Amino acid sequence: MTGVTLEYRSPAADEFADVLRATHVAFGEELKDDDLERQRAVMPLDRVLAAWDGATPVGVTASWPFSELTLPGGGTAPAAGITWVGVLPSHRRRGILTELMRRQLEDVHERGEPLAILWASEAPIYGRFGYGIAIPETSIDAERGAFTLRDDPGPRGTVRLVTEEEAFELFPPLHERVRAQRVGAIRRDDDWWKLFLLADPEHWREGASPKYYAYLELDGEAAGYALYRLKSKWEEGTPRGDLFVHQAVGITPEATAELWRYLFGIDLVARVKASRPDCAALVLMVEDSRRLHVSGAEGVWLRIVALEGALAARGYNAGEAVVLEVTDRMFERNAGRWRAGTEPGRTDDDADVALDVADLASAYLGAFTFEQLAAAGRARELRPGGLARATALFATPLPPWCPDAF
Ligand SMILES: CC(C)(COP(=O)(O)OP(=O)(O)OC[C@H]1O[C@@H](n2cnc3c(N)ncnc32)[C@H](O)[C@@H]1OP(=O)(O)O)[C@@H](O)C(=O)NCCC(=O)NCCS
Repeated sequence: MTGVTLEYRSPAADEFADVLRATHVAFGEELKDDDLERQRAVMPLDRVLAAWDGATPVGVTASWPFSELTLPGGGTAPAAGITWVGVLPSHRRRGILTELMRRQLEDVHERGEPLAILWASEAPIYGRFGYGIAIPETSIDAERGAFTLRDDPGPRGTVRLVTEEEAFELFPPLHERVRAQRVGAIRRDDDWWKLFLLADPEHWREGASPKYYAYLELDGEAAGYALYRLKSKWEEGTPRGDLFVHQAVGITPEATAELWRYLFGIDLVARVKASRPDCAALVLMVEDSRRLHVSGAEGVWLRIVALEGALAARGYNAGEAVVLEVTDRMFERNAGRWRAGTEPGRTDDDADVALDVADLASAYLGAFTFEQLAAAGRARELRPGGLARATALFATPLPPWCPDAF
């Protein structure tokens, strides 16, 4: 294979299926026709990049055009949602991913998107490309019988199971309200709702029930929604089912509590499993948080593609501006001294804190403080008080949260 020259380009329309199939081969999965059409309907061809060995796609990456990612301070920025990343087993460890990543990030930059975000299949892959852990993920695998809300005034509101069509009318406005307040959430367009979140093809069920759409009202007003499935299981005549919660979103703390009360109240279930719930609230709402069996992973990775745009897009708390001395092995345009806080931008002033662009990504949405980065050897204080001042400027009231997988 050595000596073979690869070509890097977007697929033509009639090459789309081959490219998506190559990604599936990289993951050892089968591409169903239904999923092919789903992706074809929404993924812009020019956001797909493949490495070609002759006429065969051997490496792939693509990016969703998320028009708005909620940032600290209430603003938003466009973010490229990196997906489909894979290299055929026959072509691995010869730099194809590295080349795809470099070209893709340049493309994202040219589109004027200052940020790229992704969920990684394996944690060690993306740090080398300047991505940092930005939205840590928590999951629960909870014992249903051990669920009790703290200081519980008793059930309120009503939950209705609605159809997929009704869900499409009722749920998006609720997400809009929540994502405007919540750093890390993305804007979902109609296709995203219809083709991915609400859709329920049989082959996605993996032996579980169809998807159920639960709609919560409090005092007659829309207040929350949940998407879930039930997988029946019986052991020695006893029901031991699993409930899989895909989304549980309340617009107020009360609504969130009511949704979880509903989900934990479903009969024939022994365990309630949820990926990416808003655990920050959940663990404090219940009597016995240990039996939620919360586990963590690094979650969403963020690449600051254009530091100038990224620093200008987010808001800061009041306080003295700080100067960051930033390194970036891939993109010279990001390296150097940058002022954050009032009048963010390039500066010649003395720096307060030195760190890599990947580590700044870990502080950018408020997931980690600058002191935490320093404690891990990932940031260095250059002027006394620099870490504390940077933390005060960047701090956010709630941890970032991204309920969408992509
Ligand atoms: C992950 C994957 C895309 C890497 O592709 P690749 O073309 O082999 O990657 P490269 O040759 O450009 O590797 C670049 C570097 O990353 C390292 N690397 C690549 N994949 C890695 C992994 N899974 N774990 C740890 N390191 C990895 C390589 O060792 C190499 O390091 P080096 O520069 O120090 O030698 C490929 O292994 C794959 O398709 N895996 C299965 C699907 C998958 O996990 N995709 C990612 C989805 S988020």
